[in-house]
This record gives sequence, C-alpha cells and structure tokens, in this order.
Amino acid sequence: MRFEHKVSIVTGAARGIGYEIASILAREGSTVVLADVAPDGLDAAIERLRSGSCGTRGACGCQGSGRRPCVESAVVNVGDVNAVRSMVEGVLARHGRIDVLVNNAGICPTTPVEEIGEAEWDKVLDVNLKGPFFLAQAVIPAMKAQRYGKIINIASIAGEMGALVAGCHYSVSKAGMLTLTKVLARRLAPWGVNVNSVAPGTIDSVMTADWSDEQRQMLTARIPLGRLGDPVDIANAVAFLASDESSFITGATIDVNGGALMR
Ligand SMILES: NC(=O)c1ccc[n+]([C@@H]2O[C@H](COP(=O)([O-])OP(=O)(O)OC[C@H]3O[C@@H](n4cnc5c(N)ncnc54)[C@H](O)[C@@H]3O)[C@@H](O)[C@H]2O)c1
Repeated sequence: MRFEHKVSIVTGAARGIGYEIASILAREGSTVVLADVAPDGLDAAIERLRSGSCGTRGACGCQGSGRRPCVESAVVNVGDVNAVRSMVEGVLARHGRIDVLVNNAGICPTTPVEEIGEAEWDKVLDVNLKGPFFLAQAVIPAMKAQRYGKIINIASIAGEMGALVAGCHYSVSKAGMLTLTKVLARRLAPWGVNVNSVAPGTIDSVMTADWSDEQRQMLTARIPLGRLGDPVDIANAVAFLASDESSFITGATIDVNGGALMR
C-alpha cells in the first residue's frame, strides 16, 4: 500500500498505459482521478476498477460501494487550459490535496513530414506538451504547500532518438517533455517535489495497434528483449517514481524499452 492517503491524477487513463497506471495506484491505496477526453472509455475504466478486476480484491476499499471514492473520472481535454485548471480546482475542492500527477495523455499521428498541416502540428503539441505544462502549473501551488509531490511525465523513446514510425511532431513533443521534466525538477526541488519522466519504447496498446505488421516486426527486431512492451511494464516504472522509494530521484528519465535504446 505505497499510496495510502494519497490523491493522484492520471491523464489519458481510460485505456492503455494510463489505465494500468491508475490501476496500480488505486490498488495500492491512492484515490485516483482518471482524466480523459473519452467519456465512454472512462465509464468502462471506472467500472472495471470498481468491480475488482483491477485486482484489489477489496483492498482499495471501494468495490463500487461508494464507501471510499478511490477512483473517479474527469472528462477533460488536456489541450484545453481552462478545462485543465477547473479539473484541478475540482480535485482540490473534493480531496484537499494532490500528491501525484501523471501526465500520460498523448496522441501519435504517423503523418509523413511533408503532409503535416498546421492544425495537426498544433493539436499534437497542445495535447502532448502544452497540456502537461499547464497541468503541472495548476498542481504546483498545492504541492508546494504540502511540501510534497510527484510529477511523472510520459515521454517516449521517440523524443530521445527520433521516431521510426510516429510523426515528427510527436517526436518533438516528447523531446519537449524531457526538457519540461528537467526544468520543473530544478524549480520544484526546494519544496520536496520530484519530477521525472518515463520514456517507453514501443508498447502494445491501441496507439500502436493499427501500425502495419511490417512496422511492428521491424520495431520488435530492434528490441533486444524480443517483444513489444506491455502497458503494465510502464505502469510499474511510474509507480516506483510515484512512491517514496524514489525520493532521491528527480529530473531523471527511466527508459522502459526492452533495450531498444541503451546509453
Ligand atoms: N504505445 C506506445 O508505443 C508508446 C510509446 C511511447 C510513449 N507512449 C506514450 O504513452 C502515453 C499513453 O499511450 P498509450 O499507448 O496508452 O495510448 P492510447 O492511445 O492507448 O491511450 C491514450 C489515452 O489518452 C487519451 N487522450 C487522447 N487525447 C487526449 C486529450 N486531449 N485529453 C485527455 N485524454 C486524451 C485517449 O482517450 C486514451 O484513453 C502517451 O503519452 C504516448 O505518447 C506510448
């Protein structure tokens, strides 16, 4: 129960990596706000967690009974700054604190460089980079006042080496996440707030499901461990960074990529 009495926000939590992150945090005691732009996906995710298929077997205390609001949903487009701010205000009004923010929501078009239009560029940067910045900005006052907080940004191997399949705008947004992490880590360290990134390699999720067999095989062949990642592989690293086991780690990036990039 590493997260007992903690309050966490996980964006993009309706499915995939974000869902698994929310599941681990809830299983280990945190109240978790699952924030996503997809209301139906959120309903299904909340239902799954409350029905016990999150694996809590009642340990989280909710079991759908409403006794403890350990998981709740927030429909929000992270690229909408006003919506992000009001979501954070609502969480603080309901729970009084925010201990963990996981900036996980992201979109990944594979549009060729020559075909990326201005609107698409802006959308990718809004969701993948602007949203995380303004979410962090919104939780900072509470974390400073608590003198405690964990911000975890989900970057990507694409931001470290340049994507092989994902779009140029995607790689650039994820490179921005790595720098955002370092700047926030420096600024917030005096208040006991840790800011770190996890950089996944290719993960088997909806995001990569429609990539061609050829592309997935090409990517798998570059992974020494010989398989694509599972969303749980990322969630485990995030849970470590969200826990007090990582209290002396800040401004760092954990690569979870099966060895596809070693440095
Ligand atoms: N899957 C991979 O191979 C991979 C690799 C590296 C990094 N990542 C990163 O991990 C994160 C999660 O990826 P995933 O594979 O679980 O993707 P996914 O597409 O399965 O899930 C993304 C979730 O984010 C939500 N979302 C999208 N736009 C949103 C917005 N504007 N506001 C709020 N929610 C929004 C979606 O509804 C969805 O629930 C992303 O940031 C992604 O870039 C994924």
